[in-house]
Amino acid sequence: MNKQIILLPGDGVGKEIMEAAEKVLNTIASEYGHTFTFQQQKIGGDAIDYHGVPLPDNTITACQEADAILLGAVGGEKWDTLPAHLRPEKGLLGIRKTLDLFANLRPVKGFAPLLQASPLKEDVIKGSDILIIRELTGGLYFGNPSERRADGEVVVDTLHYHRDEMERIIDKGFQSARLRRNHLTSVDKANVLESSRMWREIVEEKSKDYPDVTVEHLLVDAAAMKLITQPDRFDTIVTENLFGDILSDEASVLTGSLGMLPSASIRSDGVGLYEPVHGSAPDIAGKGVVNPLGMILSVALMLRHSFGLQQEAVEIEEAVNECLEQGYHTPDLRIKDGTQVSTKEMTDMVLENLTTKSVCNRISNMYA
Ligand code: NAD
Ligand code: IPM
Ligand code: MN
Repeated sequence: MNKQIILLPGDGVGKEIMEAAEKVLNTIASEYGHTFTFQQQKIGGDAIDYHGVPLPDNTITACQEADAILLGAVGGEKWDTLPAHLRPEKGLLGIRKTLDLFANLRPVKGFAPLLQASPLKEDVIKGSDILIIRELTGGLYFGNPSERRADGEVVVDTLHYHRDEMERIIDKGFQSARLRRNHLTSVDKANVLESSRMWREIVEEKSKDYPDVTVEHLLVDAAAMKLITQPDRFDTIVTENLFGDILSDEASVLTGSLGMLPSASIRSDGVGLYEPVHGSAPDIAGKGVVNPLGMILSVALMLRHSFGLQQEAVEIEEAVNECLEQGYHTPDLRIKDGTQVSTKEMTDMVLENLTTKSVCNRISNMYA
């Protein structure tokens, strides 16, 4: 397989985790005979420093022409005082919107060796396996900027959704639930927000098209509580942009660290941008200790969703699991009796497990 991948390392720890991603892709390419061609482009603060804007035109063009996009993270204190349209985060929102990447899949599945790494009780989190589907190109994130500070004292953020935008993400929720355990939790704030009332109506209408999927509605405040008290009651969650952002960081606690969560942002034709859920982690950037696994697992999502390379994706996930079984972990994961390693060492362990696995698979295939 021949694929062109755009790398957008961005800011802070983005560069460190992107190095890990590239190594994993190179290993997969050589083990399986694929050709992955990389082109690095700028986004976020990195692009502001170089081009004066967070999302330069050549980054957009390169992303439009690519088979898939990998992103590290954007943002940092250095750019926090810039006007809204020039902030690094605007680069990320811009690429999501421009490419119409409306469906953000955030799988939250703990690895068995990390049960002890969560501050939550093991018997509470055991067996939890949740897919959070977050609407990514609408809602409060994309309100009209000119209204925001109309007269210095009044501030306005507009929450705007078209029915079509709700319908397509809710459909994605039902379809994803069907591929899992046929249970969909729709999260909203229908006791207060008109947008949530419309959302709930659409979920009810759509549920008739998916009679095999059981649906429940939860208000977002209660959902936030249940997510960490009864995580095993959830299968697929579908929700709007801001709620999904907050709930997914919360859900990462189930896995032991925010650094463990991958994500896929996709549009209807399968084009996708893949990135870990976490941000640029300025407090640890440059120290060589960032957990690369959220990024490495995002590479697995890219292989599965954009390239249909299921076996390669599973192999990456298994290689990650094996490292954790062996007790290796970066400092964000609190594990008793494990071996604390750096970003580079953790990545090398994944690569080593990947290579060994591929060799074993090839041998077992030969005798199959
Ligand atoms: P953050 O996700 O960067 O970090 C939150 C905490 O988690 C920090 O203590 C950090 O050290 C830790 N952490 C995050 N990822 C980690 C990893 N892989 N390994 C180990 N520890 C990890 O959130 P923040 O500090 O609130 O935001 C920092 C900047 O990142 C802000 O500018 C924000 O806008 C931006 N941000 C970007 C993205 C993105 O690019 N997708 C996502 C979230 C935040
Ligand atoms: C995320 C981030 C972004 C978001 C920010 C950086 C704009 O928090 O990807 O979760 O809120 O979508
Ligand atoms: Mn977020």
